[in-house]
Amino acid sequence: MLNRAVTVFDEFYNEGFCRSTKSLNALLVAGLIAKDHVEVKRIFMEFPQRYKIDPDLETYNNAIKAFCESGSSNSVYSILVDMKKGGVKPNATTFGTLLAGFYVEEKYEDVGKVLNLMKEYGIPVGVNTYNIRIQTLCILKKSNEAKTLLHGMLSKGINPNSVTYNHLIHGFCKEGNLEEAKSLFNSMVNRGLEPDSNCFFNMVHFLCQGGDFEAALKICKDSMEKKWVPKFSTMKSLVNRLVTISKVEEAKELIKNVKKKFSKNADLWDEIEKGLL
Ligand SMILES: *[C@@H]1O[C@H](CO)[C@@H](O)[C@H](O)[C@H]1NC(C)=O
Repeated sequence: MLNRAVTVFDEFYNEGFCRSTKSLNALLVAGLIAKDHVEVKRIFMEFPQRYKIDPDLETYNNAIKAFCESGSSNSVYSILVDMKKGGVKPNATTFGTLLAGFYVEEKYEDVGKVLNLMKEYGIPVGVNTYNIRIQTLCILKKSNEAKTLLHGMLSKGINPNSVTYNHLIHGFCKEGNLEEAKSLFNSMVNRGLEPDSNCFFNMVHFLCQGGDFEAALKICKDSMEKKWVPKFSTMKSLVNRLVTISKVEEAKELIKNVKKKFSKNADLWDEIEKGLL
């Protein structure tokens, strides 16, 4: 599909249509969606000159994404130099992409360099930049390091938001550190921040998996209060586990609630309910 888009672009050129930065950017986005980083890099390197198109910030940000997602974050330093020459000022998205790239490549020294560059460019390191760093570390199963960043932002007076906590909670859940996940969940709520539905579902799922059924039950109930019902397999596992710790009444109550709030799977629940009698 990308090949076809490139061909169309070439044909437009031959027929004398006006080629714009906008259409170049659309092509780069198509390449990113197709995860064809090689092609995005090629288009970025060749097309602006060949077709006399001035790249704008969006062009650069798309190209930088391709470099960072394909393990060549280092190339971005020279792109930043080109941007400066062309009078295009990078923004927080540019640096966020670059930070994520260097984390994935575990080039921590460069992370520090990018943060300094942000200062030079006068771009404040705010909650969104922290969230990108925290999310990337959590994906890399370095949730403890991510939590250090949370403390760092708090000490700098930057307030975390619910996105910050959602990333951290999911990270600790995946690493099996449920105590930490629970504690973050509580501090999040205490701060008046609202966990999203996925955060609730992750907590129920991982607490169930880790054998902490009482905590799973409590969070599941809170979730259902908000009309967010975890998926059937998670609910079924919770119900079955509650029975094994002699909480049959709670299990029945839970089923009753699910059926009331959620007509889907009603017959499946009827069957499970029968098994509890
Ligand atoms: C940075 O610029 C891009 C392209 O113009 C824009 O889509 C994005 O929202 C900007 N990011 C921020 C944080 O303003």
